Amino acid sequence: MKVIAIVNQKGGVGKTTTAVNLSCGLAKQGYRVLAIDLDQQGHLTKSLGLPDEGNTALEWLTNDLPLDIVIKKKVCSVDSGIDVVTANITLANLELELQRKLLDREYVLGKAILKAADRYDYVIVDSPPSFGIITVNILTAADHVVIPFRPDFLSKDGVNKLLDTMEEIKVRINPKLKLAGFLPTMVDKRCNNEASFAEARELATQHGGVVFGEGIRLASVLCKAPERGMSIFDYDPNSAAAKDYQAFVDKFVELEGESK
Ligand SMILES: Nc1ncnc2c1ncn2[C@@H]1O[C@H](COP(=O)(O)OP(=O)(O)OP(=O)(O)O)[C@@H](O)[C@H]1O
Ligand SMILES: [Mg+2]
Repeated sequence: MKVIAIVNQKGGVGKTTTAVNLSCGLAKQGYRVLAIDLDQQGHLTKSLGLPDEGNTALEWLTNDLPLDIVIKKKVCSVDSGIDVVTANITLANLELELQRKLLDREYVLGKAILKAADRYDYVIVDSPPSFGIITVNILTAADHVVIPFRPDFLSKDGVNKLLDTMEEIKVRINPKLKLAGFLPTMVDKRCNNEASFAEARELATQHGGVVFGEGIRLASVLCKAPERGMSIFDYDPNSAAAKDYQAFVDKFVELEGESK
């Protein structure tokens, strides 16, 4: 089992869209996938068309519930599906609960995921646009990190802060943590993004990751698919955006294979 964190504290850069399409893309290839929504906006949950009531990530992590009574099943396509831990606005309480814990507050998510280690090939975690104890838990539980970014807005400070924090967590609590790479999102070919791509390539090389090809183009189908509760592969499999996400998933699987 590999735990993949989709992280960037900057809002609206395509984290949730990437979490949905990576999860369903891997399931389509036959991998057993658990997707975890750890954002109180519950966008991963909504984008998959799942109800946000019942047991959510909050109950799972604060009451130590068995995963079986927490997960909801999402059919991705005719012959594939994923398990999902959902979230809603009550997840704000998790941040408070974790802060109140005296000991081991960074390990709560990692311990819960570990109990399901033999059931999944990949656990994909969608993270919030903030940097608190929930994100620290995600980075403590993660093997690999994918950082989606908008090349026209690559905020060097924000990404550098994230990379510094990853380094600190790697040294202090999670030696297996590794940058998989940067995924350029909402790429508008009409703009000259070369400087941002070059900057991302340099950062990726410094930190042992990659820039995932040309990334994902700006495409309105990617706004419409979540409204229907579908991944891009099911909503519009022949679209250019589906091809972009397919290329990302294929490259991701190739790199994961090499890093075994
Ligand atoms: N390549 C794309 N082209 C066009 N729209 C996109 C693309 N990727 C994502 N979007 C849309 O942009 C918005 C933000 O994307 P998304 O929710 O994935 O970002 P996020 O980083 O998860 O945001 P937040 O930080 O709020 O959680 C959504 O409405 C989504 O449908
Ligand atoms: Mg999101």
